[in-house]
Amino acid sequence: MRSRITATGLLAGILILTVGCMEQYDPRRFWKQTKDERELAHRPVQKLTLKGEIPPNEVAVVETDPVFAKYATLCSSCHGEDGKGNGAAAGGLMPKPRNFHDTAWQAKVDDAHIAGVLLKGGAAYGLSGSMPAWGAVLSKEEIDGLVKRIRAWGKK
Ligand code: HEC
Repeated sequence: MRSRITATGLLAGILILTVGCMEQYDPRRFWKQTKDERELAHRPVQKLTLKGEIPPNEVAVVETDPVFAKYATLCSSCHGEDGKGNGAAAGGLMPKPRNFHDTAWQAKVDDAHIAGVLLKGGAAYGLSGSMPAWGAVLSKEEIDGLVKRIRAWGKK
């Protein structure tokens, strides 16, 4: 009788030990780690100001503006990141890419003209052929967004 109790105790002991050891092989803590890492990787990136600085209200994480992304990839090489017509590729061009902060030009043209130049390119309007046509690349919404973006520069 006595030895049987001991045997049961021993078995229970082994069982507790085994479960205890298996704890460290529990995959669930890795699931959590993977989840945390995935969340970190997908955290929205802080939007920078046009000068590449972190905005003063840096807690407000703004989604990347798709229109601005288009402008940055397609237009800024000539028109400059902040629309001043001084992009890296502007140097060799004559006439120079339009400076969108030029208020006299802003007053002279209407939205339809700007959208038309974007759609058909400079040459179609008797302007420099260096201003490409974007009709095949940009949707109507994107063109409208870019017109607004260009207009906004005229108000500053
Ligand atoms: C390869 C250089 C280049 C790129 C890229 C470029 N542009 Fe231009 N853009 C020019 C040049 C040069 C002019 C000036 C044309 C002129 O005055 O004859 C111009 C003029 C303009 C004008 C003014 C038209 C007017 O009535 O004076 C607008 C608006 C414009 N670009 C918008 C854009 C937008 C938006 C993009 C991107 C989708 C873009 N450009 C990409 C070179 C470029």
